[in-house]
Amino acid sequence: MYVSDLALDDFRSFHELVLALEPGPTAFIGPNGQGKTNLVESIAYLSTLSSHRVGADTALVRRAPAGQTQPAGAVIRTKVVHGQRPSVLELELIAGRANRARLNRNTARPRDLLGILRTVVFAPEDLALVRDEPGVRRRFLDDLAVTLKPSLAGLRAEHDKILAQRASLLKSARAARASTSSMLSTLEVWDAQLAAAAARLIAARVDVVQRLRPWVADCYSRVSEGGSAARIAYRSSLAAHEGAPDADPADEPAFLAVEEALQDVAATAMRLERAMGELHAREIDRGANLVGAHRDDLSLFLDALPAKGFASHGEQWSLALALRLASYDMLRHDVDAYGGDGEPVLILDDVFASLDDRRRQALAGIAADAQQVLLTAAVASDVPADLSGARFRVSATESGSQVHRE
Ligand SMILES: Nc1ncnc2c1ncn2[C@@H]1O[C@H](COP(=O)(O)OP(=O)(O)OP(=O)(O)O)[C@@H](O)[C@H]1O
Ligand SMILES: [Mg+2]
Repeated sequence: MYVSDLALDDFRSFHELVLALEPGPTAFIGPNGQGKTNLVESIAYLSTLSSHRVGADTALVRRAPAGQTQPAGAVIRTKVVHGQRPSVLELELIAGRANRARLNRNTARPRDLLGILRTVVFAPEDLALVRDEPGVRRRFLDDLAVTLKPSLAGLRAEHDKILAQRASLLKSARAARASTSSMLSTLEVWDAQLAAAAARLIAARVDVVQRLRPWVADCYSRVSEGGSAARIAYRSSLAAHEGAPDADPADEPAFLAVEEALQDVAATAMRLERAMGELHAREIDRGANLVGAHRDDLSLFLDALPAKGFASHGEQWSLALALRLASYDMLRHDVDAYGGDGEPVLILDDVFASLDDRRRQALAGIAADAQQVLLTAAVASDVPADLSGARFRVSATESGSQVHRE
């Protein structure tokens, strides 16, 4: 698939932008702070309804210079060419209110847009995939699960809601000091609900891990200096509670067995309920949910060692890159829910400057035959020769960022 048209109103540094795009590589060039990332961020936002950069939605609406009227909201509009018929996606971000969406000019829920425009973004922030807390990797898996199967967005939202409600019940039980029998029976109702939602979410994540696994190994060997093998495994707080040891990368059958068991949704829900029952006293003591999808992680290994805490800076970079490229390859080999091609738009934000020659070549080689790749760079010489295509210059002006074809 590819994006053929992009229009922005008051998104980040853009006041008004209307841009026609082509398949193949397109580079956005300009010095720091001109609006390159803002531009590609808008496209990525339409595909996941979240930004690859930190920050609340309010940061996405343009702040006009002092003295000018502040825009009430931002609009992102794209035409996506995929399968038989193009789709027109439109999202209005209104400060302090729920977003509004339109699909092919009809009113839709924002969630209805999910899964139509597929993107894979690789950006310097992705080092967090290897280095940061488990939440970053859970989000990585969940975003992929939703891209593969958009209806999972509803499950994800429902799970988070139940989780928050159960947490507030645990907090009030803690505040009350003594847990009454009515409190415990209410808690059991929440146990069942959380277990059911978490079991489905865990199964969806494990499915992603299994599909991704061969691509991660393959992409890592392409982008690294060779030598070590990259492996991934789903890390389950439930299995840990039950006494299963942490995944040992040398014992693949063992962690595959853990994953396989987690794919049985009904059995996982029962196991979760039992675990919650065993943990009630501690959960009330801590005022927090202690087991479930929200405590899980994706374990990353290079050979026999966990990447976090052991891998060198360069290895961490290669692994983060491999995770994104693997996502790209996995999605590309999947037919999307709309019967079109599942090949995502590849977005490479400011990555070539920080890669050495070998990895730059490997990435350029993969990106060169992508249906559409949008990349940003501060200077044109950072863009590898294999990726010569359309070039646009992005510049900040008094009336917002501007984009001109070179
Ligand atoms: N909501 C907003 N309203 C107005 N301006 C914004 C808004 N959000 C970000 N900006 C401005 O956009 C600029 C950053 O744009 P962007 O991150 O796209 O830069 P860039 O061209 O990618 O630069 P770099 O090469 O450093 O990555 C900053 O000057 C910032 O002040
Ligand atoms: Mg940038």
